[in-house]
Amino acid sequence: MSGDGSRCHNMNYRQENRPLVFNSYAKVNLSLTVLNKRKDGYHNIKTIFERISLSDRIILKLRRDSKINIISAAEGLPKDKTKNLAYRSAELLQKKFNINKGVDIKILKRIPLGSGLGGGSSNAACVLSGLNQLWGLNLSRDKLARLAARLGSDVPFFIYDTAFAQGSGRGDKIKPFKAKNNFSLWHILVVPEIQVSTPLIYHKWDACLAADRRFSGLTRRQYDDKILTLGLKTESLSLIAKSMFNSLEEVTFNLYPGIRSIKEKLLNSGVKAALMSGSGSAVFAIVSSRREAGLFCRKMRRLNRHWQVFPVRTV
Ligand code: C5P
Repeated sequence: MSGDGSRCHNMNYRQENRPLVFNSYAKVNLSLTVLNKRKDGYHNIKTIFERISLSDRIILKLRRDSKINIISAAEGLPKDKTKNLAYRSAELLQKKFNINKGVDIKILKRIPLGSGLGGGSSNAACVLSGLNQLWGLNLSRDKLARLAARLGSDVPFFIYDTAFAQGSGRGDKIKPFKAKNNFSLWHILVVPEIQVSTPLIYHKWDACLAADRRFSGLTRRQYDDKILTLGLKTESLSLIAKSMFNSLEEVTFNLYPGIRSIKEKLLNSGVKAALMSGSGSAVFAIVSSRREAGLFCRKMRRLNRHWQVFPVRTV
């Protein structure tokens, strides 16, 4: 993260004792293919990440004592602060580099929890990058990304200042790439009142594979990421729409039919494509403009007032 160009924006000039303020952006997976289970229990995947405009706000304030303090009014964050990824990020840096300063971490939450939008991972990356500045650590981006991988598979993506990236390994090996003319996609995002557990979904994916060896083939596509990146590099919405894919959809949809129904409703309403993000529960759609995003959002809100519906774009 840098002070100027980063999407974890530092909105203030750095001054001693002045808080650092960051937008902590969400992501969607334009594609996610599960390849195989690894010896360490994780799964090798291939994914295309896209950073989107829905964001939390993170405010970091230096403390002279060594306390790490989490301040948030958000419901549903872990009560035990040592389970909070933002807390764990600060603790990791403090222990690894023998830091005797502390920090107040204020989190204003807008990204729904357990939705596959990477909110917790993004907060963790912001805290790592922010404390790199606040505590004067001078760590390189690659070093920060390696530390980020210890906190969660999605955290390294958010360390890189990029709108799009390919992820491999367990999602932690990141290769940023640029879309043509910094082309930006418009989406609508629908989030039901369901929080999905990622370990549970991977566990069910394993169980489906054990029950039927063909399952892996059914939830795997070989070449589409190449078409997807070509679509992004040539600004072709139809190539992008055609090649969006998520291996975990079937598993999550079977557990939560309500999430499948969101995808069907989006497709019926006439969007170009719709896909679940990560292990769910959010489903996003591709639309062609800000105006269309607004229109489809109103349509979806009318269908179910319990859904959170957001117009978002690539950032
Ligand atoms: O890395 P992260 O903490 O986000 O992963 C949460 C859980 O999701 C892991 O403990 C693992 O069960 C599962 N997972 C996986 N393969 C991945 C990513 C996550 O099996 N590539």
